[in-house]
Amino acid sequence: MKKNTYISLPVIKRLPRYYRFLGVLRKNGIEKISSNELSRRMGLTASQIRQDLNCFGGFGQQGYGYNIEQLYNEIGKILGVDKNTPTILIGAGNLGRAIASHMSFSERGFDLIGVFDKNEALAGQMIKGIPIRHISGLYNFCKDNSPVVAVLCIPEDSAKEIVEQLVNLNVKGIWNFTHYNISADFPSLSVENVHLSDSLMTLSYQLNNKD
Ligand code: NAI
Repeated sequence: MKKNTYISLPVIKRLPRYYRFLGVLRKNGIEKISSNELSRRMGLTASQIRQDLNCFGGFGQQGYGYNIEQLYNEIGKILGVDKNTPTILIGAGNLGRAIASHMSFSERGFDLIGVFDKNEALAGQMIKGIPIRHISGLYNFCKDNSPVVAVLCIPEDSAKEIVEQLVNLNVKGIWNFTHYNISADFPSLSVENVHLSDSLMTLSYQLNNKD
């Protein structure tokens, strides 16, 4: 089957979910799955699943279903989890520490190589074997290590200045936990915004509109 050259963002956004579900099935030793069964487990329609996976050339066989190992590996490749993208994290406060400590960066194609904060008292403390560095060392560190991605866990009012520095230091992507709208000022950057509060409010809407 021919691959589409353009893949819409909603499809891309569903891929990590496929990857996660398939990872669990794979761990449980299941070798194949029909689109009907995958749809039941994921709460998507079977035709949605077929459509999504066909965007990438389809990985299923008529009458057999999907080979889980193959599909898992192919989606992993599409998502780039086999990469090792050098990544830094800025802001080692409550959120930054939690992310640096609990996120499996390497399983998702990222290599966390540096953590920075402006609080001098934090300098030298270790998070998962990585020393927290003072933000004044950002320039030299980036010149030496060429990080491609930065995780931003600082207050919104410091974000623009830091992003400006990061762009000048050739950082290409931001995993943005601040509420600063990076894309408005830096349209060329790849940005993924994470707002836990949006998710919570979506739950609130669902609770209040059950019928
Ligand atoms: P925090 O106050 O515990 O940590 C912020 C850290 O950033 C501090 O260690 C501070 O020294 C450092 N910092 C401030 N300006 C800096 C700069 N210019 N360079 C380097 N380090 C700098 O705050 P917390 O709870 O960790 O939250 C951090 C940010 O994340 C806040 O903006 C908060 O609104 C946001 N947040 C976002 C969530 C989301 O779902 N997107 C969830 C929770 C918090």
